[in-house]
Amino acid sequence: MILITGATGHLGTATIDFLLGKGILASQIGALVRDESKATLLKEKGLKVIKGDYGDYPSLVNAFKGVEKLFFISSNDHLHRVAHHKNIVNAAKEAGVDHIVYTSLTRKTENGSSPIAMIAIPTIETEQLIRDSGISFTLLKNALYADVLPAFLGLDVLNNGIYFPAGNGKASFTSRHDLAEASANVLTTNGHKGNSYVLTNTVNYSFHDIAAILSRLSNKNISYISPTAEQYSQALTQMGVPEAYLSYFNSFAAAIKAGEFKTPTTDLPVLLKRVPTTLETFLQQVY
Ligand SMILES: NC(=O)c1ccc[n+]([C@@H]2O[C@H](COP(=O)([O-])OP(=O)(O)OC[C@H]3O[C@@H](n4cnc5c(N)ncnc54)[C@H](OP(=O)(O)O)[C@@H]3O)[C@@H](O)[C@H]2O)c1
Repeated sequence: MILITGATGHLGTATIDFLLGKGILASQIGALVRDESKATLLKEKGLKVIKGDYGDYPSLVNAFKGVEKLFFISSNDHLHRVAHHKNIVNAAKEAGVDHIVYTSLTRKTENGSSPIAMIAIPTIETEQLIRDSGISFTLLKNALYADVLPAFLGLDVLNNGIYFPAGNGKASFTSRHDLAEASANVLTTNGHKGNSYVLTNTVNYSFHDIAAILSRLSNKNISYISPTAEQYSQALTQMGVPEAYLSYFNSFAAAIKAGEFKTPTTDLPVLLKRVPTTLETFLQQVY
């Protein structure tokens, strides 16, 4: 059985749909959920819904019994991410899981000094935990999702232009849907054990590029201003954005500016057997 963690989330749901589309029987796919009230659709699709919480070790050992491949979707809980990931890897070992496919993150800096260290360090530690576990593994080093862009661009970007402190930095923004399709391809074919894949777009885009794309799509002149982090924080505060989000947005902007998500090579076209969705197509769909 293939067990999908994070099955109620965006990536998990899309990966399940790709697995079903490839003819994998629903009875062969397990869905780990922490809240069964969110699992109605998964049950309707015929999946085996198993209750488990990344913070509850015994629930994970129980859920992972009989699992051959574990699609380990990283926790979105920044405060408890490493503890959650330790639980998942240790429970997989105790339950005898044969193969872990982990959704890692692409990054340039490996020593934990990047502006997104709060995400990069747990990711690097998790990769090491998996390597040390002795379980066969595949690491999917996912790009920064193109799907995060609307949050960075703001609700009214087509009227207001882009105001984001990413300078001339570029990132290989990639459609999450493409990442789900590539994940399903890895989960349903052989030859991936021990491999680490960079799953990113073939093009790196700056916010100047994004402004140009949006200008083309909207027939308007969409500007891009890159303020200082302080100016950006002030603007967000004036818009009523809670303080907790200021450092989050600034960290991602600084990471993009520093090229943390700029990737020179990618394995995504090979795993998709096609060219990844361009940012222009993605933004056309969104806007
Ligand atoms: N590469 C990127 O740009 C990027 C961007 C955002 C996130 N991410 C990472 O990629 C992961 C997948 O992305 P996504 O868009 O699918 O995220 P998402 O929609 O937020 O889904 C996260 C999934 O994890 C589940 N989950 C969270 N905490 C859990 C816990 N303690 N026990 C069991 N399940 C738990 C959630 O369950 P509930 O439905 O019950 O909440 C949900 O199913 C995220 O979790 C995050 O680590 C990457």
